[in-house]
Amino acid sequence: MGCKVLIGTQWGDEGKAKLIDYFSKKVDIVARYQGGPNAGHTVVVNGKKYIFHLLPSGILHKNTKCVIGNGVVLDPDTLISEIKEVEKDGYDVRNNLFISDAAHLIISYHRAIDGAMEETSKEKIGTTKRGIGPCYSDKCLRIGIRVGDIFDDKYLDSRLKETLHAKNMQLSRIFSMPELDMKAIKKNLEDFRDQIKGMVINTQHYLHKAIEQNKVILLEGAQGTALDIDHGTYPFVTSSNPTIGGALMGTGLNAFCVDEVIGITKAYVTRVGEGPFPTEETGEIGEQLRTKGAEFGSTTGRPRRCGWFDIELLKHAKRINGLSNIALTKLDVLTGMPKIKVATGYTMEGKQIDYFPTGKIDKVKPIYKELDGWDQDITKCKSFNDLPKNAKSYVTFLEEHMGLKASIISVGPDRECTIVR
Ligand code: GDP
Ligand code: IMO
Ligand code: MG
Repeated sequence: MGCKVLIGTQWGDEGKAKLIDYFSKKVDIVARYQGGPNAGHTVVVNGKKYIFHLLPSGILHKNTKCVIGNGVVLDPDTLISEIKEVEKDGYDVRNNLFISDAAHLIISYHRAIDGAMEETSKEKIGTTKRGIGPCYSDKCLRIGIRVGDIFDDKYLDSRLKETLHAKNMQLSRIFSMPELDMKAIKKNLEDFRDQIKGMVINTQHYLHKAIEQNKVILLEGAQGTALDIDHGTYPFVTSSNPTIGGALMGTGLNAFCVDEVIGITKAYVTRVGEGPFPTEETGEIGEQLRTKGAEFGSTTGRPRRCGWFDIELLKHAKRINGLSNIALTKLDVLTGMPKIKVATGYTMEGKQIDYFPTGKIDKVKPIYKELDGWDQDITKCKSFNDLPKNAKSYVTFLEEHMGLKASIISVGPDRECTIVR
């Protein structure tokens, strides 16, 4: 009963979508609560791969309703092309999807400014250039355009006129870029309005009603704890809160609605874009993890940086999110590694510390413990006991150091490759 939240515990791409899809069969509603088309959520069904940027990852289940919550920033073109792609395969999106009237829209100027800032800044963040930061900034500045606004022509006109004037000044004078045309933006939003008309509702009310009716809700996070604007490695973060606070803010649900918080955790660590990464392996080991794990961004195709499991990062995610347990993903990728390292702690300026210092994470040095690997293929394992001895020891070692149980172990991208304990 109630509400489960699935949150990435590292720097994103932990395999959240695979698990959301896995759980979706048994829940009534899946709601995305933050982020936007910066997310790349991969679901594999019978060998066919779908990458969702905005659609909730439960959309492939015909009896599950999906919600794009008020905390999401929504790019009209991305959403429509994603809906069409899934409809082509016979899925009924329009009857199963609800879009918050309070979600903010990403407009062409957000993408242009995101790209221009990345190109011209000296200290690059390595953003996805999808307009995420500029759109959330406008939300805070109270000059954003929300989904509900596009149904009121007069309001939209005056809002857009004023905002576009300021954006065009910024584009032309600061970045020497061409100005954007109001008519084209308006036409795009009108087309979008026609396509989503029947799906726009007050999702906060819809979700509370569902809670009152004892429906089971899954909240889907994008990105991960270390990319959180408040609790991540600022400034190398995204512009929203992927953590538990963001799940509540981005849906309107309250803390008492939540009965389980599951941390989606990769069996090693990856990061895309710039910023510190204490357990990164830049040599052969990193390359091996990238190749075996197919670690290339689902949104931008960029190679993901790879490294060893980091216990201190997981303890941080446990504290910030109040994790009930974890789902450990991509354990199969470690097969064939003779030795596997785990960072059990950090030293900073010569002293051991017992926390994840978000602002000074570039100053820490990991303390490693080396474990023996395994060679056997584990992708067909159906229970914990089917795993080779050293794979079981690796999982148990992580559990004991994190103080969290891995209640699910994922051993392959497909729905079927999932061990439930
Ligand atoms: P998300 O953003 O957290 O949903 O993760 P992504 O979809 O960006 O990246 C995870 C990648 O790993 C995708 O290509 C998944 O298909 C794949 N994947 C998920 N779980 C497993 C697993 O247990 N083993 C393997 N080998 N691949 C997995
Ligand atoms: P999912 O949901 C991994 C990273 C970008 C960049 C930083 C800021 O698939 O796990 P942004 O475009 O958000 O302003 O970029 O955040 N980033 C992600 N990294 N997975 C994601 O999403 C990401 N979304 C953003 O690479 O470093
Ligand atoms: Mg991803």
